[in-house]
Amino acid sequence: SFVPVILAGGKGERFWPLSRKQRPKQFLSLDGSGMSLLQSTAQRLCPTAEGWEQLWVVTASHLASGIREQLPQLPQANLLVEPEGRDTAPAVAWTTLEIAKRYGEDTVVGFFPADHWIADREKFDRTLDAAVELASVRDAIVTLGVKPGYAATGYGYIEQGDAIGEFGSLDAYRVTRFTEKPDTATAEEFLATGRFSWNSGIFVFRAGVALSQLRTHAPELMQMLEERGIEAYPELPKTSIDYALMEKTDLACVLPVAFGWDDLGDWNAIERLLRGDEPNVELANHVGQDTEGAILYASNDRDVIVTIGLEDILVVRDGDVTLVVKKDRTQDIKQILKAVRDNP
Ligand code: GDD
Ligand code: MG
Repeated sequence: SFVPVILAGGKGERFWPLSRKQRPKQFLSLDGSGMSLLQSTAQRLCPTAEGWEQLWVVTASHLASGIREQLPQLPQANLLVEPEGRDTAPAVAWTTLEIAKRYGEDTVVGFFPADHWIADREKFDRTLDAAVELASVRDAIVTLGVKPGYAATGYGYIEQGDAIGEFGSLDAYRVTRFTEKPDTATAEEFLATGRFSWNSGIFVFRAGVALSQLRTHAPELMQMLEERGIEAYPELPKTSIDYALMEKTDLACVLPVAFGWDDLGDWNAIERLLRGDEPNVELANHVGQDTEGAILYASNDRDVIVTIGLEDILVVRDGDVTLVVKKDRTQDIKQILKAVRDNP
C-alpha cells in the first residue's frame, strides 16, 4: 500500500505580507485555481474519497488549526503535529516511524512539499505510479528530478548515474551524487555537465528502507526520536532531509519528470505562471495608467490599486500592510521583515 504525506510546516517568507507566521505560503491561493497550494496538493494525491483515508500531513503546532480548516476531509489520526518546526529531517523521520508502526515497514511512503505547482496532472499520476513501483521492488530512496532551467542556488541537484530499468514506462537511474543548495559557481558546473537535474522535493521509499538509512546517516536524530519520542522534539537537530539523508545515502534513485513543475519560490514565479498577454498580472482591482510589467495583489476584493507611470513593480496589499517593491528586489523582502517586526 502507498501512503502519501504532505510536508506542511514551512514558512515561505518571500510572500510576505501575504504569508504571515500563521498563514504561510501553502495556505495561499497563488496559482489562479481558487484553491490554496495545500488544497491543490491534497487533491492531487487524493483523487477519490477513499484516498483521504490514507493521506497524512505533518506540520508545526502553530499551523495545525489552519490545516484542519483547509483540509476538513483529513482524518484526525493522520495529522502529525510537531511541537515546533525542526526542518524536514525530523518531520520525515518521525512521520515514517509512525507510519511504520501503523501499517508496517513495507509500506511505501511518499513525501510531498505542500506548496508546489504542478501543470500536468496525468503525467504526475504516471510518474508517481512509477516511483511507487520502483520503491516497492528495490531498496531505493526515489527522487523525482526536474530538468534544470538555470544555475539556481535554492534547489538540490541530482547527478544521474547508470540506468536501472524501466518502471511504469519511465526510465529510472541511480543517483551518483546529491548536492543540496550549491553556490552559483558549483551550480553552473553541474549544469555544464548535462548530467544533473533539480530535486523536486518529492521522495518515495519503503518505510523500513528509509528508517534503516536514517539510523545509519542520522544516528543522533533517530536515537533521540526512538528513545524519547515526541518529548525529544525541541532538542532534535534542526536540519533538512536533503542534508541529513539525501547527500549521504547510496540508495538514491531518480526518475526524470516532465509534468511541469514550479516551486513558486517568490512573486516572480507567480508572474511566470499567470503572465498572459495583458501588460500586468492583476490579482486585484487595478486601475493603471502607463503601467507595465506590474504584479498587483490585494487580499480584500474591495481594495483598488491605482498606479501611474510605473514599470516592473510588485504591489501587495494585505490587511494593514502595503508592500511596494521593484520586481528585481523581491529577494530582499526577507531581510526587511526584521525591520518591519521591530517597528512598533
Ligand atoms: N512538517 C514540517 N516541519 N514541514 C516542513 C518543515 C518543518 O519543520 N520545514 C519545511 N517544511 C515543508 C515546507 O512547508 C515545504 O512544503 C517542504 O517541507 C520543503 O521545505 P522547504 O523549506 O520549502 O525546502 P526548500 O525549498 O528550501 O528545499 C527543498 O525543496 C526544493 C524544491 O522546492 C529541498 O528538497 C531541495 O532539494 C529542493 O530542490
Ligand atoms: Mg521550498
